[in-house]
Amino acid sequence: MPADRKSTDLAGRTVLITGATGGIGKATALGLGAMGARVLITGRDRGRTEDTAREIRAAAGGLVEGFVADLSSQSEVRRLADEVLQRHPRIDVLINNVGGYWNTRHVTVDGLEHTFAVNHLAPFLLTNLLLESLQHSTAARVVTVSSNAHTMGRIDFDDLQGERSYSGARAYNQSKLANVLFTYELARRLKTSAVTANAVHPGLVSTAFGAGDPGRAQRLFVPVLRPFMKSPAQGAATSIHLASAPDLDRMTGRYFAKSKSTRSSKRSYDESVAKRLWEVSADLVGLTTPAATT
Ligand SMILES: NC(=O)c1ccc[n+]([C@@H]2O[C@H](COP(=O)([O-])OP(=O)(O)OC[C@H]3O[C@@H](n4cnc5c(N)ncnc54)[C@H](OP(=O)(O)O)[C@@H]3O)[C@@H](O)[C@H]2O)c1
Repeated sequence: MPADRKSTDLAGRTVLITGATGGIGKATALGLGAMGARVLITGRDRGRTEDTAREIRAAAGGLVEGFVADLSSQSEVRRLADEVLQRHPRIDVLINNVGGYWNTRHVTVDGLEHTFAVNHLAPFLLTNLLLESLQHSTAARVVTVSSNAHTMGRIDFDDLQGERSYSGARAYNQSKLANVLFTYELARRLKTSAVTANAVHPGLVSTAFGAGDPGRAQRLFVPVLRPFMKSPAQGAATSIHLASAPDLDRMTGRYFAKSKSTRSSKRSYDESVAKRLWEVSADLVGLTTPAATT
């Protein structure tokens, strides 16, 4: 992106958004497509992904491509990265949007706890695999969708996978703190590059979030709260702002809510925890030599 870009016209920019078959991701794709970006979306189900790509193309009128991958599987994340890179050697914006809440403990095909694998390890691995293509952009951005739930999270290095004791809320809060720690560590590792990294809190948004395996509190309170929640388009506003605002070309290592940079939790600024989490994550995804270096 030229440094003097003044408008949010994204013509010529390629944006990859994970989990864009519904909710905040789809609304983000619609918004960025309407600004002229070439939009690459990912989904788990081929039919849903193709239908969504068609819908975005019809509404936004731009170039939209769908990629199918279950991000709970590391081999699928790697295949997705390969397919994207084959077709798009340069990515300008990566939006790590996929995430969810699971009340009961599930194990992925890689033998990892599902929440940690989908919410943290998948964006960690995908970002690292796409870093080179992001570095081909003159001003690239990595946006990772976290949540204010991160403020209740703590990284339990002794039981990262919830093997000893699992709670859906604890796993979710930990994974969303991991999103912020990852973002800040990535920003530090990329400080001499033209790639920025920022995290987002979208607000409380009416989507299918947590619907597959809800907790008791969600079953009780979500129906009551739903009329007061943000729409997916409102929930997508901060991701869209971070992906497109011309004045954010050099803004990095920040946490955004309501399209404004704001403080995240005290724990999220602990650089030793962030570094350790990076190393543990690199081991868990088989990136023995992390791709991101200063
Ligand atoms: N909604 C909120 O109030 C809220 C608040 C704070 C933060 N967030 C964060 O916002 C992000 C988006 O959430 P949302 O509310 O839009 O949720 P959503 O409506 O459940 O959408 C999640 C998207 O991720 C996809 N997905 C889920 N698991 C996947 C997997 N294993 N592999 C590939 N794709 C997968 C879903 O695809 P399918 O169509 O195949 O299910 C869907 O496209 C998440 O990171 C969440 O933590 C949400």
